[in-house]
Amino acid sequence: MSEQQFKRYTVTSALPYANGPLHIGHLAGCYIPSDIYVRYLRSQGRDVAYVCGSDEHGVAITIKAKNEGKSPQEVVDHYHEMMKSSFKEFGISFDHYSRTSAKVHHETAAQLFLDLYEKGEFVEQVTEQYYDEEAQQFLADRYIEGTCPKCGYGQAYGDQCEKCGSSLSPTDLINPVSKLSGSVPVLKETKHWFLDLGRYTPFLKKWILEDHKDDWKNNVLGQCRSWLEAGEGLQPRSMTRDMDWGIPVPLKEAEGKVLYVWFDAPIGYISSTKEWAMENGIDWEPYWKDKGTKLVHFIGKDNIVFHCITFPAILKTHGEFILPDNVPANEFLNLEGDKISTSRNWAVWLHEYLEEFPGKQDVLRYVLTANAPENKDNDFTWKDFQARNNSELVAIYGNFVNRALVLTHKYFGGRVPERKGLSPFDQETLEAAHDFPGKISVALERFRFREALALMMDFARLGNKYLADTEPWKTVKNDEERTGTILNIALKIAADLCVVSEPFLPHTAGKLAQMLDLPPKSWADFGKGDFIMEGHSLKKPSLLFEKIEDDQVEAQVTKLHQAKEKNEGKAPLAAPMKEIVSFDDFAKLDMRVVTILQAERVKKSKKLLKLIVDTGLDKKTVLSGIAAYFTPEELVGKQVTMLINLAPRRMMGELSEGMVLMAEGGDGSYKLLQPHETTSTGAQIS
Ligand code: 2FM
Ligand code: ZN
Repeated sequence: MSEQQFKRYTVTSALPYANGPLHIGHLAGCYIPSDIYVRYLRSQGRDVAYVCGSDEHGVAITIKAKNEGKSPQEVVDHYHEMMKSSFKEFGISFDHYSRTSAKVHHETAAQLFLDLYEKGEFVEQVTEQYYDEEAQQFLADRYIEGTCPKCGYGQAYGDQCEKCGSSLSPTDLINPVSKLSGSVPVLKETKHWFLDLGRYTPFLKKWILEDHKDDWKNNVLGQCRSWLEAGEGLQPRSMTRDMDWGIPVPLKEAEGKVLYVWFDAPIGYISSTKEWAMENGIDWEPYWKDKGTKLVHFIGKDNIVFHCITFPAILKTHGEFILPDNVPANEFLNLEGDKISTSRNWAVWLHEYLEEFPGKQDVLRYVLTANAPENKDNDFTWKDFQARNNSELVAIYGNFVNRALVLTHKYFGGRVPERKGLSPFDQETLEAAHDFPGKISVALERFRFREALALMMDFARLGNKYLADTEPWKTVKNDEERTGTILNIALKIAADLCVVSEPFLPHTAGKLAQMLDLPPKSWADFGKGDFIMEGHSLKKPSLLFEKIEDDQVEAQVTKLHQAKEKNEGKAPLAAPMKEIVSFDDFAKLDMRVVTILQAERVKKSKKLLKLIVDTGLDKKTVLSGIAAYFTPEELVGKQVTMLINLAPRRMMGELSEGMVLMAEGGDGSYKLLQPHETTSTGAQIS
């Protein structure tokens, strides 16, 4: 369907977990792009519902509550308000920001589950799931951590590996550990309701890989392809969990179970739309059910599978709903060359930024859009933040607008002068100015926000260069009419720029509109005559942007490093002690200092290294799951400790004859245990 044919738009941004403050990665990932898109659509006069809300269920919340000694409700209440306020400060203009603890959401999600249940869409299955005997609790999703079977990352969650994006089941994890007690969980039977995603594969393949092959982003199509074309196919996913925090499964036989957070969260978009519609006395249904509605989900790359596979499968099979027309997911934003991490405190927190850079929300919006991780991971650095502010916002946009306004006040008492007798350069400039809104529209409608922003800045650059080249401060000495024409053209560009920059820089555009005393104008008004007329009086100008000094950004970099170091100084939570063993049992373990003679990767395994070690008695082969942490080269020649009498085990077709001992850090990394000085190979450890 071509753009003009859509009657209305439903635009969603991922519901953020209410378990922590927002940081720049959130803004760059999906909130700024969606806000730009929606502001643009509104400016075009389109009918839009822009919805979001806090994701308040799932293990992310209960783990946070446990760590902080609070109830889950206290945690979500606190962060819901905090996130809502940060969004507002940054001008993220949701029509409605709801929360998944809302009554309407509980009812909507439960009803959708029942609808699917009644249609026979669920496969009921008693399966073995991990259970923490100490905590007497089943371990859903993020209550369990272990090594990712796909990429070897040591801290993959039970439902997903954040490193490689794979969707996992807890039983896929290698060396699973309970996050509740640190103990090794046991398998125990429990009944759950599964969605057999494999059933929808033919539909999903056609809908995504054929129908949307030309309009979805390559990074999104690539992930979908790898899911849909994976050898083992889409696996059934349980839509229920053994937990007491969440939306109770609406079935008698499911007492004590709740809906899986990834079943309920996307339905939050529908509930949020319902709440918005109720509050405004409108009908919510066309926004989710009318085929003339364009549904767009803005998300980060870790949410692709849920928005392109699971949720559309649910919507499709339910039958009443439209499917997303696009899912323009972004990749990840890094910070100063390192992955943003809440636990390591490697982040720029929005509430702190607002305190430290008051009134500079648009600067961050600008930098995060200019550097948006649209097609690949990207890096935010404070140096780049400073450079873009000083040499683009201040030196181009701010300088142009300020000159146009100040000179008009100085030479014409703040009244827009007449435009008379255009020079070829004036004509050329006006023609170029005329083309900008259209070019920016095209980029925005294709979700190319970086390109659109660069065009917006080129538009300001056009105005800035026009003034620099025509030099009205010189012509004023002997040609008032010419000076008037120059400033008229500059003010026309400033007024147009005000409208096209609003989606990107809403606070700045608001101030500029005030200074220009611009009557309400929008994108839809382009082509209907100039926005400000000759004789129109301007208000007093003030600076739109100010320079950011070296010491301000240096302080930010120092703060980041200090916060990280402080955090690293914290002792990781030690796992609880295992049961007491007798001395005789201990004495059975034959642990030695061995020397690694050879090391190589194991074919088809991302995790395993094959080591040949000298035990002092003989040579043994050991397969060790440390490929993610060490290269083969760095191991050769090292003395390490090894349990040499562990019963041999076959792994990936090779026999492993012992175990190299490792210290597992709280951050999931592994360290070799080495004698503090070289000793004889084969030395016994006692
Ligand atoms: O990854 C996250 O932060 C999830 N809370 C996103 C949920 S998006 C949607 F489905 F609600
Ligand atoms: Zn992985």
